Amino acid sequence: MHPSIPPVSSFREYPAGGLAFAHRDLTGIAQLARHEILYLLDEAEQWLALNRQSQKRAALLAGLTIINAFFENSTRTLLSFEIAGKRLGADVVNMHAATSSVKKGETLIDTAITLNAMRADAIVIRHASSGAVRLIAGKVDCPVLNAGDGQHEHPTQALLDALTIRQALALPPGSDLNGLNVTICGDILHSRVARSNVLALTALGAQVRVCAPPALMPAEIEAMGVAVFHDFNAALKGANVVMMLRLQQERMQGQFIPSPREYRHLYGLTLDRLARAEPDALVMHPGPMNRGIEIDSQVADHLTRSLITQQVECGVAIRMACLDVLTRRARGVPGWPALSGAPA
Ligand code: CP
Repeated sequence: MHPSIPPVSSFREYPAGGLAFAHRDLTGIAQLARHEILYLLDEAEQWLALNRQSQKRAALLAGLTIINAFFENSTRTLLSFEIAGKRLGADVVNMHAATSSVKKGETLIDTAITLNAMRADAIVIRHASSGAVRLIAGKVDCPVLNAGDGQHEHPTQALLDALTIRQALALPPGSDLNGLNVTICGDILHSRVARSNVLALTALGAQVRVCAPPALMPAEIEAMGVAVFHDFNAALKGANVVMMLRLQQERMQGQFIPSPREYRHLYGLTLDRLARAEPDALVMHPGPMNRGIEIDSQVADHLTRSLITQQVECGVAIRMACLDVLTRRARGVPGWPALSGAPA
């Protein structure tokens, strides 16, 4: 047990069979009940173990076709969904918008209808527009997984982050994050990672602080059950986990910070500043990082404090769990009857 972490509750509370996850799609953490978050985390544990073996193949999804349709750039999410699908035995096809007929003017809905006609068994979508994933989910017959939509949500990122924390603290399956203090600092306004993490961490019982310059803090974010800080030094006091976010320049119109140098001075995580958190506080970053701006290399590469590479490892396991669970109904897995009238 991590010395500074208060005891967490540890129990399995999800209902049996198909009711453990009662959705066709994974469009956001907001749609999930707490027991569904815990269920996906617990399911991912077996895939962490498999992925650490030299033989990493399971045949669960043999014969299924998964399409990863990415309308925005990605390294971690795209590759880990591809690896996840392949390790589970599925045929995985990647569609990059930059080399697709989107460039010829094809609409999002026509693209969705086209992918659906190819009889995909699951479609993973990343898109620059908030709500695009839900729009596509309404047009296709198979499960749709959100790989990040605009400023809205990045649910598998929040799930992998929660799994990473559980692993780092050696918390057993079934554990929530009750009593943990998590500080999220950076461009909260434009961050789907922040939004999904706030939803997941608070559902799991963590106390969440968000910290940003006033221009990069969403209005009324307190309603999400977080404490709001503009002073990073104050936000670090008592933190068990510090989650850093990059400035999302691609979503900014106009100037939100005076200069990168000034931003780093006030909001960059240096080793000196990390000393203001709990002595054993852990550091996370979803990537990609802007080293020397929101996080220094001494922190990002710290052997005992940084969890950044562990986040990537957990990402593959979480995406395997999501692909498995969301395709169970179509695969006719016993105990997973078709949904009727359950939330999408
Ligand atoms: N964390 C994350 O979504 O990274 P990518 O943009 O590389 O997928």
